Amino acid sequence: MKKIDRFKQYMKQHESLLRCPICQKGIKVTDDNVVCEQNHAFDIAKKGYINFMTKPVNTKYDKELFEARHHIIASGMYEPLHKKIRTLIDEKYETANIIDLGCGEGTHLAYIVNEVEAEVTKSGMDIAKEGVMTAAKNHLDMLWCVGDLAQSPFQSSTFDVALNILSPANYDEFKRLLTDDGMVIKVVPRAGYLKELREAFYDQEDYTNEQTVDRFKENMNQVETYHLSYTFSLSKDLVPSLHKMTPLTWNVARDVALDLSEVSIDLDILIGKTS
Ligand SMILES: C[S@@+](CC[C@H](N)C(=O)[O-])C[C@H]1O[C@@H](n2cnc3c(N)ncnc32)[C@H](O)[C@@H]1O
Ligand SMILES: [Zn+2]
Repeated sequence: MKKIDRFKQYMKQHESLLRCPICQKGIKVTDDNVVCEQNHAFDIAKKGYINFMTKPVNTKYDKELFEARHHIIASGMYEPLHKKIRTLIDEKYETANIIDLGCGEGTHLAYIVNEVEAEVTKSGMDIAKEGVMTAAKNHLDMLWCVGDLAQSPFQSSTFDVALNILSPANYDEFKRLLTDDGMVIKVVPRAGYLKELREAFYDQEDYTNEQTVDRFKENMNQVETYHLSYTFSLSKDLVPSLHKMTPLTWNVARDVALDLSEVSIDLDILIGKTS
């Protein structure tokens, strides 16, 4: 089956998760496109995703960055994070609607859900088209959407789990999308995250996530925090991708030598409920 047909099939099965980002009415997946009750129409891309943006946006995240992120995430660098999130989902749900908001190139979501025991629907949204295109290329049977967290194309009170991994938050939108019993799982860097890159390129003061964590606590209820720290051994072929995958190196010439054999992962996993 062609990729676009397989994507349409998955969308048709799960169209009740979606709403029009312009008029907020329900939408139907037809053979040609996606259309709402007021006839706002959105094209389905051949590559297996849908673009819900009403005007194009330019982001600084490009195809090269997302391909590099895919290479790094698929190498297993974040497996302890994926395992922890799987456990959080499986402890609570037998069935769940899961969405990754700011999913980038989608590999975190794909690796998390592919091994959960719960029966799940899988949706991912990012404002960067290049990210969603890479996601659709690598991971089938997921509802991949280009969309803005400020105007997202999903129904209210629909998702049991909203993931928000190393991405900006929009708490009003998280609360709108979650069921009464739903949870946000937000992943934020701590001071030691990729510290080898910071040390190689900057004389930078220690980064602190205090403000981000405080905002999470102000906006969500029953907050729990897990601290996850480890080092990951790097094979030589991963080093160029590590260099390209992060905004940390945006202002650094590509030919700066980076000779690393391991890298530090240092993250907070924040879990919060709506009520
Ligand atoms: C550092 S990347 C992380 C991507 C992915 N979660 C990962 O960890 O690989 C941050 C992502 O947030 C996305 N983003 C920023 N603002 C957004 C918005 N308003 N709506 C949706 N996504 C947004 C960016 O396009 C980018 O893909
Ligand atoms: Zn509409």
